[in-house]
Amino acid sequence: MHFFIAEMAPNQIYNLLIGLVAPRPIALVTSMNEEGRVNAAPFSAYNYLCTDPPVVGLGVMNRPGGKFVPKDTARNIRRTREFVVNVVTEDIAHPMNICATDFPEEVDELEMAGLETAPSKVVKVPRIKQAHAALECEEFTSMEIGNSRIILGKVVAMYVEDKFVDPAGPYILGEELHAIGRMNGLGSYVKTQDAFFTMPRIPYSEWQKGRRE
Ligand SMILES: Cc1cc2nc3c(=O)[nH]c(=O)nc-3n(C[C@H](O)[C@H](O)[C@H](O)COP(=O)(O)O)c2cc1C
Repeated sequence: MHFFIAEMAPNQIYNLLIGLVAPRPIALVTSMNEEGRVNAAPFSAYNYLCTDPPVVGLGVMNRPGGKFVPKDTARNIRRTREFVVNVVTEDIAHPMNICATDFPEEVDELEMAGLETAPSKVVKVPRIKQAHAALECEEFTSMEIGNSRIILGKVVAMYVEDKFVDPAGPYILGEELHAIGRMNGLGSYVKTQDAFFTMPRIPYSEWQKGRRE
């Protein structure tokens, strides 16, 4: 099948794209409004984009409907210029999903999800205590693109629970961390527990010797 974007409705494009760009890491983003009220919401239009300097990107759609109404996360980041990406692992999958519920503004998503906060080291926005790793970010820039906002955040500090760090690199012990990924908009996710395989890069010298796999 071929699909031509010019002939498609936004929700159809969404359905296909989020099923094809998968699995995606999930950022459970904490942000704060001007009054210091903490907000939490998950975003899978998320990745790191470069490491020198360390920059992560988030794609936040506006709220559904014709009017330009940003989600609280995008609004908060524009106003207070900071956020924290809490890494989503299997053990916090359900609380993460609760944070995506469209609660009325006065309801605290973190409380509903049974999550607590812990102070960050550099930014004012707290991280989520139950998350095993978190990236403290300062807004680098936000771009309005159609009905979405692309937010670039400069990572200024990282928190990782000691047991998930191999200090030699330092490396992340990904096989132990059990991060999950989002597969589509139908509520499907993947686990990474017992799912790792190793495939070393092939140096060209090895390739020339005939090593192909
Ligand atoms: C796993 C998951 C990933 C999501 N990814 C995105 C995303 O990348 N962009 C987006 O705009 N909404 C995404 N959502 C929906 C938002 O989390 C949801 O709209 C949330 O209520 C926004 O909250 P806020 O207004 O507090 O920022 C996702 C939801 C889930 C469950």
